[in-house]
Parts: sequence; structure tokens; C-alpha cells
Amino acid sequence: AYELYEILRTDDPVHYTTQVPFSNPTWIITRYDDAISLLKDKRLLKKTPVTFIEEQFSEDSLQSDWANLFNHMLNTDPPDHSRLRSLVQKAFTPRMVENLRPRIQDIANQLLDQVVKNNQMDLIQDYAFPLPIIVISEILGIPIEDRSQFRHWSNAIIYAFNRPDRRKQIIPEIVNFNHYLKELVAKRQQHLQDDLISALIQSSINSDKLSESEIYPMIFLLIIAGHETTVNLIGNGLFSLLQHPDQCEKLRNYPYYIDTAIEEFLRYMSPVEFATNRWAAEEIHLHGKTIAKNDLVLISLASANRDPTQFPHPNHLDITRQKNEHIAFGKGIHFCLGAPLARLEGQIAIQTLLQRIPQFELSVDRDQLEWQATFLMRGFKSIPIRF
Ligand code: HEM
Repeated sequence: AYELYEILRTDDPVHYTTQVPFSNPTWIITRYDDAISLLKDKRLLKKTPVTFIEEQFSEDSLQSDWANLFNHMLNTDPPDHSRLRSLVQKAFTPRMVENLRPRIQDIANQLLDQVVKNNQMDLIQDYAFPLPIIVISEILGIPIEDRSQFRHWSNAIIYAFNRPDRRKQIIPEIVNFNHYLKELVAKRQQHLQDDLISALIQSSINSDKLSESEIYPMIFLLIIAGHETTVNLIGNGLFSLLQHPDQCEKLRNYPYYIDTAIEEFLRYMSPVEFATNRWAAEEIHLHGKTIAKNDLVLISLASANRDPTQFPHPNHLDITRQKNEHIAFGKGIHFCLGAPLARLEGQIAIQTLLQRIPQFELSVDRDQLEWQATFLMRGFKSIPIRF
């Protein structure tokens, strides 16, 4: 895809496409400057046009369950967006997140304890996947025994985004997930605990800021947004090091480069390929093209992060890169709420693995690695290594 982005950035920076699973006219934005200005542009809205909802969610049961869960802050415009975001923001400030450091470190060590003696492991299945799901589940207060079920649900939901034609198949998953969240919240309402779900319930009791029906989509968003993305930061970061032994060596020898290394992994192999859907509320003219009202605009964060006008030698991985203003976490009012947490998890996961496993290599050919089947995210299903 990166070669294609290069062509689009040069020849067709506002590209009309039919190669996406939506029937609305769709535009792909690939340049860094355009991405920044459109992510901040008030003429692009998150609220989905009614025609699109009708087309995508025609079955009744899916429509109601799906609409319930997807009515969260990332799909909302101001003023609702600001209200919803302010309610959870304080749980994810860099200071709050820093308190989680010792626990995240424990989790990383425990996961490695289970596999290091085997001299082989799967970087995704054994490490990059479980770590963020354990962390976000503990923050929210989700029982440990339910966590494996989440992979199933979140995979099904991401799959449904890519294959709207097969969306019917996942109706039971959405209904079950919704049902599960309702039961979980009901249990917490009876016995409040020291976790984020209880805090959200209390805020809905003590003020009229968060209605009960807004709690489920909020929890749903935190689980989905806080999980698949971070798996890919850890997986793509470690994969990038496998492909660049000199950079891997440098990071082992000079661990204090971990901060700039994480930013470089986010730029070089951005975990989220495209910002989520934005719809034109009015006509927009850009580089000689006209984006009509209700057209869908897809902004490629991955392409913007390789734009040579912003990043010298963009296709070169440099863990010491300075002035790395990538947009892997988006820009504007929907800028990733979990960025401090994602950065901390990425740092601890990658550094701990490098410390505990002095040398490792892919145990299959690079070409045999299977990508996750999604156009929104960039990451592998599995990365087997031996050491
Ligand atoms: C929003 C990326 C981890 C929670 C976003 C957006 C991006 C993003 C690009 C904006 C999407 C858009 O504007 O369309 C990432 C990446 C992550 C990561 C690359 C990991 C490396 C997390 C974590 C959490 C989280 C760990 C939470 C625990 C959110 C939320 C939003 C969001 C709640 C919506 C914010 C809003 O609408 O105001 N993320 N994310 N993310 N992210 Fe993340």
C-alpha cells in the first residue's frame, strides 16, 4: 500500500474510489497537510447520514443493538462529543496512566514467563494481544474469566466493518455483546467497586451528564479502541525491529531511545490505517475535486505519516528520529483519548521483551506472515519467532 500512497500523494491527493465496502461516494486523502486540515475541519461530521444507516443496518435487531453500541463519542459531534469525552478524560491523563506502570510491567513479565522456556513464541497471540486486553479490562473492572470472549467479539465487529455484505452473520455477536454489557453494568450498580465502570455509573447517578444508555457504548468504545490498536503498535514495532537488526541493536544498547522509538513505530507502521468515517456536511473543494454533501471522506493516517514533505526519508526507520509529528493518534477533537496509555503499554512491552530475550528471529518466511483482514487497521494475525 505504501507504493500506492506515494503515487496518490503525487498525482491524485483527493482520490475518488469505489474500492471500499460502502456505496456512498468515497474520497481517499493521502497528503499530510490535507489530513491535518480535514481532521480539524468542521464541515466534516461524524454523525452518519440517515441513508447510509438504512442501507447498512436494515435488519431490525441489528439496527437497534448496533445503533446502541455505536452511539459513542467517536461517532458523535459537538456538543455531545465534548460532554462524553470530558467524562472519561480524567481516567486517561498521563499522570493517571503513569500509576499503572508497575502493574503493566508485571503483566508483561508474567506473559513472558509463560513462554520464554519454550524458546519460541507468537509475538501477537502470546504477548501483543493479551497485554492490552488485560490492562483495559482491569481499568474497566471486567472479570478475568470473560476476557477471552472479547477477542471473539472485537474480531467479529472489525470483520463486519470490512465486509458489510456478511454483516448479517455477526448479528448474534452484537446482540450477545450488548447483553453482556448490560448485565455487567447491572451487577456494578448493585456493588460499586474501584473501577472505571463504577465511576461512570456514579457520574450518571450524581449528575445528568451521562445517561444510562450512554454507558454501554462508552464501555464498548474503550474496549474496542483500547485493544486492537495497541496490539498492532506492539506487533508492528517488534516486526519493524525484526526487519531492521541495526535499529534493534541500537535500542537494546541504548534503552533510553524507547520514547522516540515508539513514536517512530507509530509513524513507520501506523496501527490505524485510516481515521474513522467522516461525512461532508456541505460541498468541499480541494485540489480541483468537489466532495459533495454526504460523501464519505477517508483520511489515510498511514500515508500522511510517510509524506516526504513532512518527514525526511519517510520510508526509513530511525528510532532516534526527532521532530516526529506523526498523526497515528489522529488530530483535532477526536485525538486519541488513550494515547498516553498506548504509549506506556508499547514502551513496557517492547523494552521488556528486548531485555528478556537477547536474540530472536522470525520462525517463518516474511512472506508467510498473514495480515489481519481489515482495511482500517494495519497488523499481523500472528508473528511466530524463535530464540
Ligand atoms: C480515538 C489511534 C489506543 C481510546 C483514536 C483515533 C485514532 C486512534 C487514530 C482517532 C480516530 C478518528 O479521528 O477517526 C489509536 C492508536 C492506539 C490507540 C494507534 C494504540 C497504539 C487507544 C487506547 C484507548 C483508546 C489504549 C483507550 C483506552 C480512544 C478513544 C478515542 C480514540 C476513546 C475516541 C476519542 C474521541 O472521539 O474523542 N485512537 N488509539 N485508544 N481512541 Fe485511540
